[in-house]
Parts: sequence; C-alpha cells; structure tokens
Amino acid sequence: MVTPIDPALVPKRKLATGEEIPCIGMGTFGSDRFTPGQVSAAVAGAIRCGYRLFDCAAVYGNEDQIGQVFEAAISEGVVRREELFILSKVWNDMHGKGDVLLSCANTLKDLRLDSIDCYFVHWPFANYHAPGCDGDSRNPDSKPFSPDRFMDTWRQMERLHDMGLARHLGMSNMTIPKLEAVLPRCRIKPALIEIELHPCFQQPELFGYCIQRGIQPVGYCPIGSPTRPERDKTPDDVADTEVPEVVAIAKAHGVHPAVICLKWAVQRGQIPIPFSIYENEYVSNLRCTIEDPLTAEEMATLQHADRNCRLIKGQVFLWPSANGWEDLWDLDGTITK
Ligand SMILES: NC(=O)c1ccc[n+]([C@@H]2O[C@H](COP(=O)([O-])OP(=O)(O)OC[C@H]3O[C@@H](n4cnc5c(N)ncnc54)[C@H](OP(=O)(O)O)[C@@H]3O)[C@@H](O)[C@H]2O)c1
Repeated sequence: MVTPIDPALVPKRKLATGEEIPCIGMGTFGSDRFTPGQVSAAVAGAIRCGYRLFDCAAVYGNEDQIGQVFEAAISEGVVRREELFILSKVWNDMHGKGDVLLSCANTLKDLRLDSIDCYFVHWPFANYHAPGCDGDSRNPDSKPFSPDRFMDTWRQMERLHDMGLARHLGMSNMTIPKLEAVLPRCRIKPALIEIELHPCFQQPELFGYCIQRGIQPVGYCPIGSPTRPERDKTPDDVADTEVPEVVAIAKAHGVHPAVICLKWAVQRGQIPIPFSIYENEYVSNLRCTIEDPLTAEEMATLQHADRNCRLIKGQVFLWPSANGWEDLWDLDGTITK
C-alpha cells in the first residue's frame, strides 16, 4: 500500500474567477488499450492517493463507470464533492441546437454529479468520425471552422453556466486565430483551455496568449502520449521521454523521464493531466509536484527541448477539400477555410 499524498500539499493555481484548482490532474482516456473498468479503478485509487482533479469526456466512453467511483468515494467519506474538480467535454456530434445541454445532462447523470466544475467544447467544430476509424478517412459532412457555428455552440455552453450546471466553461484544441475570432463575442469567457503541451511541443505563443488573458492552460499528452493509438503516430514524431535533454535531467534526479515532463509542466504554469492506470506511475506523477523541483537551469534547458512536434494532429476531423492536418491548426496565422 503506497503512502497517500496530502492534497493540501499539492500546489494550486488560481483561476480568473478566484477559485483554486490543483496544479495536476489525472487523464481518463483509456484509448483502445484499457477497459472502462480499468480506468475507473485507477480513478478510485487516485482519489485515495490524493488526486482531486480528473479530466473526463463523453467520448472516452467511461463516464458511467467513473461516476460510480465518484459516488462511492463521496458516500464513503473518502472525499467531499467540493474538494473534487471535475472536467468533462461535449463531443463533436453534439454541437447542434439543444444538443450541448443534452450532452451535459447525460454526463452529469453518468458522473453522478449535480454540476460539472468545467465543461469544455472538445473540438471547435462538429466534425464527427466513427470511433477507431482509419486516420485517412474523411466524413463528407465535415466543415472547416466557422466562428458563427462555434458561437452557436458556445451560447449553449453559456446557458449551462447560467443554469448552474457548469461552474466554469472551457475550450479545447483552439488556435490564436480561432480565439481572436470568438473571444470578443463570448459573454462568458473560458476559464480553462485544454491543449496539447509537452516538452517537445510547447506552443509558446498560444500558451502566452492564454496566460495574458487569464485563461488557464491544461496540458494534454503531457508525457508525449507514448502509448497513443497507431493511427495517431507518424514517422517524424519525437518521443519526449527519449530526447537527450529530458533523459539527462531524469538521470540527475533519479526518476523516470515521464516525471521530468510533469515537473516541467507544473513549474511552467500549465496543468498537466497525465494518464496511467498503474498505481506506481500515477502516485509518482502526483508526488513529483511536492518534492525535488527542477532548477532554473534545468527549466531553461527544457525550454530549448521544444521540437514543435504536434502528436494529436486531428486528421480524422478534416473536411473533404482540406489539404492536410496542418489546415486544422491555422499555421499561417489565419483561419483555414
Ligand atoms: N482535449 C483533448 O482533445 C485531449 C486529447 C488527448 C488527450 N486528452 C486528455 O489528456 C490525457 C493524457 O493524455 P495521454 O493519455 O494521451 O498521454 P500522456 O498522459 O502523455 O501519456 C500517457 C502514458 O504515459 C505513460 N506514463 C504515465 N505516467 C508514467 C510514469 N510515471 N512513468 C512512466 N510512464 C508513464 C503511460 O504508459 P503505460 O500505460 O505504458 O505505462 C501512459 O499510458 C488523456 O487521458 C485525456 O484525458 C485530451
């Protein structure tokens, strides 16, 4: 039995609303590898070990099982509801009129919650793809990003906030041009933004843009998602846990390179949400936030480890006339139409 970590010792970040949120959370996307039961068992173990922040999503297909774990942990007095900060997201096939509310209602029912702490738009368009589909497949109904369509979805998100069902709102997989197009039109601004962030993909401009506007970045794939599905891998991808800068610092601290990726993330200021079902891994991921910090010199070395290597390219969301996955990310500073 591992020694639990006192959640009070885990550093917090302050959101624009003044509310505090843990500096690290646990991801719950079991992908093709783990069953909902395995992921929810890890969530149960993680709560006992001191995790208080969990990143869920309807499309992960395990909210029902994770909800059973939340319900049991609260009713058994392991944790109080108000100590937990739970994230969830509306999937791309639920952006239509009234669908966002329906999706949130389903998530709340599955997670056994009265409200979600932050509800995200998972991807900024309604481009649906069948689960597990081939990376090259394109849905003929998929369309490029449209600020008007996004705002139709965001208005429903704002209603959820008004109704007290979503305490904060979040966006995910956004770019600066897309944020520029929609932020001025938001009555309720996003408190959090979930984007890919790891040493080899630091997105410095987007990170700085969000921090300046009081939008707290949450970093997904914080370890470089070494076990992501084959369809999300390309030959040029770099493995964060194998780059010399990360490996050398891990050696100096006597820890796994994964742990260095997380220390860097927390000290830089994003909230990493590493995934693991293994107790030894998820405990060391939480523990690393309370001991043995990286030096300023190590942080500077890691800043230069950036390889601009995006792992989750999102090619399955492309529309028929798109050239390639780069079209999703507005690389020339304008929204690709
Ligand atoms: N908003 C979005 O669009 C979006 C997209 C992707 C992901 N996410 C979220 O981000 C979360 C994390 O992303 P991810 O799961 O793709 O990638 P990740 O957290 O970077 O990598 C997870 C893998 O790292 C390994 N690992 C974890 N802790 C370790 C440790 N202490 N030592 C050694 N290896 C360790 C595990 O491999 P083994 O299992 O082999 O040990 C695990 O499967 C997801 O679960 C999901 O909640 C969101």
